[in-house]
Amino acid sequence: MSKNELIDKAIQIRERAYVPYSNFPVGAALVTKSGKVYTGCNIENAAYPVSLCAERVAIFKAISEGETEFVEMAVAADTERPVPPCGSCRQVMSEFFHSDMNIHLTNLNANTMTVKMDELLPFSFQKSDMEK
Ligand code: THU
Repeated sequence: MSKNELIDKAIQIRERAYVPYSNFPVGAALVTKSGKVYTGCNIENAAYPVSLCAERVAIFKAISEGETEFVEMAVAADTERPVPPCGSCRQVMSEFFHSDMNIHLTNLNANTMTVKMDELLPFSFQKSDMEK
């Protein structure tokens, strides 16, 4: 799957977002090592803090299906600059993504930026930090 095809999937799934509070739909698409794509959109709730971001929906869908190895992700929203993932999503990404994995961030004007996991969340807290 090309980078642009993956971005298209993130843009398409954004249409499924449940966003009655923010009216800010986000889409994400995650590729596994085996070549499968898991998509996610943000899902909000009247109790605002229990809402979930698109990135975490895609990651949790994949993990719950037994996937553990990921190679690429795309995230799309209608922003001025390429959409920056929130801090909670960066932490969840860093749990499952290699430090050199590419994450494509885009807006709807094809303004795209590709960052490595380690650039998105440097010096992240890891499982190994509890193993001293
Ligand atoms: N949101 C995402 O789904 N991903 C991001 O990268 C940024 C923020 C969602 C959370 C909430 O539903 C809405 O966008 C506004 O914050």
